[in-house]
Amino acid sequence: MYNETVIDHFKNPRNAGEIENADGIGIVGNPACGDLMKMYIKVTDDVLADIKHKTFGCGAAIACSSVATELVKGKKLDEVNRLTRDEVAAELNGLPPEKMACSNLAPDAIRAAIENYRGNKPKNKDGQNESTT
Ligand code: FES
Repeated sequence: MYNETVIDHFKNPRNAGEIENADGIGIVGNPACGDLMKMYIKVTDDVLADIKHKTFGCGAAIACSSVATELVKGKKLDEVNRLTRDEVAAELNGLPPEKMACSNLAPDAIRAAIENYRGNKPKNKDGQNESTT
């Protein structure tokens, strides 16, 4: 039911693993199946310098986390935040319709990691995160 691109990313997930001393960590779960995804990010000058994932999920979720990390690496955080599940699925040349819900996890986990990073940043005198000013 999966195409060759999905199977390739499932069998050889890119950017799999963990970043020690990550600047941000995002964890999301799919309540429908109990699967879990963790994203670790390193940020330099508001650019996503590095990203790794640990995905405890179905083949589609693993393939999505693999391709999503490739899509966002090296991009500005605001651009990364706009990543959609449709872009992830398109990069995989499509997913079976019943697996589209699984493609939410990667963009959501990446956004959660950015939120975590921005929450960890020191605040400026106006109480805003320094990275957003
Ligand atoms: Fe759980 Fe796909 S079935 S993420």
